[in-house]
Amino acid sequence: MAGRVENKVALITGGGSGIGRATALLFGREDAKVLVADYNAEGGERTVKRSRSPGGTAIFHAADVSNPQDVDTLMHKVVETYGRLDCAFNNAGIEGQMGDTPECSLENWNRVIAINLTGVFLCMKYEIPLMLKHGGGSIVNTASAAGLVGGIGAPAYFAAKHGVAGLTKAAGTRIRAEGDSC
Ligand SMILES: NC(=O)c1ccc[n+]([C@@H]2O[C@H](COP(=O)([O-])OP(=O)(O)OC[C@H]3O[C@@H](n4cnc5c(N)ncnc54)[C@H](O)[C@@H]3O)[C@@H](O)[C@H]2O)c1
Repeated sequence: MAGRVENKVALITGGGSGIGRATALLFGREDAKVLVADYNAEGGERTVKRSRSPGGTAIFHAADVSNPQDVDTLMHKVVETYGRLDCAFNNAGIEGQMGDTPECSLENWNRVIAINLTGVFLCMKYEIPLMLKHGGGSIVNTASAAGLVGGIGAPAYFAAKHGVAGLTKAAGTRIRAEGDSC
């Protein structure tokens, strides 16, 4: 990835641990300007502390991606801090409670869909216009093998991840059809 994201502005949700943190650290090493978002402030701050590099910059902003107001404020924070958005990694997600469909509570269903699917939708809804203002950008959404095939024990997770795959394809199709450079 050498040189490919140098000075690019990258937003990474779920950057407080796991895959999001690893991505933030990689972007930091490659001298990108990173905004780590997570609802876990302790994890997000730790990622930022570890990801600062001589040429790059990283800040943390607390946000719950399932909350429209938080996502709106998050996007304002990106613009206020870096003036643009080039790369977005919509990665925040939860597994939810285990159990097949009859055991899946409505509360668990709503929470998993809100974070894993609506959260990605809300982020993309704001990210696409921001990127197009400066000629385009790149969005990567974390789905899962659970977004491609069926499986047992987590119906809301499987449904949400299938939704993420569909949402991603839909956005890609529209942007290509309009001839933009995303
Ligand atoms: N680890 C795997 O094997 C695996 C496999 C397939 C897909 N995934 C997906 O990859 C993504 C990252 O998973 P991970 O393994 O790194 O998990 P993780 O739990 O280590 O990281 C997820 C991060 O998202 C944050 N988060 C959760 N809900 C949030 C919300 N509402 N708003 C903001 N931040 C929130 C958490 O605080 C956490 O820091 C998830 O979308 C997950 O579904 C993971």
